[in-house]
Amino acid sequence: MAKSTSSDKKSAATSKTSSKSAGSTTKAPKKSASAGKIRPEKDAAENLREFLVDGIKDLYWAEKALVKNLPKMAKNATSPKLVQAINKHLQETETQVTRLEGAFKALGEKVKAQKCDAMDGLLKEAESIMKETEPGAVRDAAIIAAAQKVEHYEIASYGTMATYAKLLGEKEALNLLKETLGEEKNCDTDLTKLAISEINIKAKNS
Ligand SMILES: [Fe+2]
Repeated sequence: MAKSTSSDKKSAATSKTSSKSAGSTTKAPKKSASAGKIRPEKDAAENLREFLVDGIKDLYWAEKALVKNLPKMAKNATSPKLVQAINKHLQETETQVTRLEGAFKALGEKVKAQKCDAMDGLLKEAESIMKETEPGAVRDAAIIAAAQKVEHYEIASYGTMATYAKLLGEKEALNLLKETLGEEKNCDTDLTKLAISEINIKAKNS
């Protein structure tokens, strides 16, 4: 097979350039190769273990934010069953905070919260969704909708972190993450049942 020589490549490149410049008089703006690429921060994770610890710091912030915000959701709910479900999950969430502290310890890391932008956004949405609905069945349905978005975010986060912990052989952290993951899934299922069996219907008829 004939190999192209460096002089062949050079002449091909030259002809390409000359045909381009012959067709247009204005030069296209040069695009930097790094355009759109995100520069890592100083303390950016360099491996999966560090990324797992970062994820746990995010969850720690998220759970603590929920402990502060769930009472507000309970206060604005009308259905006694919904109030009960939120209060039950508040108790679970307090335990989940402690469990995350256990996960930090199991990983030999310092307990630290890192602002979770996603949870911050979901909680802001929960607040606005309550403002946008009249108290009663419609607001109850809206509170369930907001709470389930929170639960789905947590299920995704705990699920991913548990997968990393398993791969990294961090058994103690894995068990703690899996325990909370189970609670989040149960909470989500309970909210679905409550919405379908009662609250959505009342909201529809109100
Ligand atoms: Fe949680």
